[in-house]
Amino acid sequence: MALLSIEIPTYNEADNLPLVVERIEALKMDVEIIVVDDNSPDGTREIAQSLAEKYGNLKVVKRPSKMGITSAIREGLSVAEGEYVAVMDCDLQHPPEFLPTMMKEAEKGTDVVIASRYVKGGSSSFSFARRVVSRTATGISHLLLGKTGKIADPLSGYFIFRKDVIDPADIKSNSYKILLEILVRGRVKTVKEVPYTFCQRVNGRSKFGFTEVMRYLHLVLQLSGYRALKLAIAGLAGLIVNEGILFMLEPRTPLLAASAMAVEASIIASFVMHSLLPVNGKSGESLFRRLARYNTMTVLGALTNIAVLGLLVFVHFEYLAANFVGIMLGLAANYTGTEELLWT
Ligand code: GDD
Ligand code: MN
Repeated sequence: MALLSIEIPTYNEADNLPLVVERIEALKMDVEIIVVDDNSPDGTREIAQSLAEKYGNLKVVKRPSKMGITSAIREGLSVAEGEYVAVMDCDLQHPPEFLPTMMKEAEKGTDVVIASRYVKGGSSSFSFARRVVSRTATGISHLLLGKTGKIADPLSGYFIFRKDVIDPADIKSNSYKILLEILVRGRVKTVKEVPYTFCQRVNGRSKFGFTEVMRYLHLVLQLSGYRALKLAIAGLAGLIVNEGILFMLEPRTPLLAASAMAVEASIIASFVMHSLLPVNGKSGESLFRRLARYNTMTVLGALTNIAVLGLLVFVHFEYLAANFVGIMLGLAANYTGTEELLWT
């Protein structure tokens, strides 16, 4: 039984597969190679089959049609026998010669070892456009998934993990970013990033595209418990109520009194939205206590809102525009530092 199972998902990699396999075999490590092919029209499967006959340590998992890289890796896991699993592209963008370095780290007891483009010493040969996409996606992950905050390259496609950190059933998405799911849903305590250079693709073309971007956004929202979406909905409800009530009261009520009522109504509206769509799970407290606490926590934002509105109207801003600026600054005041305290 090999120590390391190397999973290589393939779709139209006929020219690349023999090169990758030869370079892995040349390392003379204790490994098995698992090629998961989605019925590539270019004959990758037949090549994989002949490589399996040539080398005794190569298995081919055959799937009927193109079903995505993550589900390919999940399926490969079911035949993996190693204590550790490596995931890599079949296009030599992930140099196989880097496996021994990663394996050395894994054997020190690290749960997940990531070949990282974004730690000191790492780099990538991405085009400018793809680099922007990659950096933005990484930023989104850092913002929404706390667990990835300290990891420079949580979206790397090249990594090794101890097989028992994740149950294949917990890999649910069908995005490109299987590493994210392992980091968020797995029993991962230690992560180590080792710098490497993400090379140019040798043959064939990337399967990355718009669908992958959408799948990624869906995955991050899913993994974050739809947190950003819920916060946005609660914020939007507050904004609409605040401006709406101010608009209705303003002709007949002194501005700051109208604003105070609008602000309180908006606090209640966003409280209701937060209760319907809890971000940090439901709290055991009574409704009244929670509302009181919510009001206390938003007091700074409320005062900011009213003060900014008053000030801007004083210097002749249109009052709804002034209120909008006030709301934004008020939100900023509320969410600095207190957001995670909401329901805990
Ligand atoms: N079986 C199977 N099914 N394999 C697939 C499929 C599929 O639907 N789609 C892609 N693959 C295989 C490709 O043949 C290749 O071996 C590997 O999965 C990665 O696909 P690429 O098309 O080369 O992806 P990329 O280079 O654009 O993206 C890579 O880099 C990203 C880093 O930003 C991947 O490694 C990503 O996982 C990684 O996040
Ligand atoms: Mn690639």
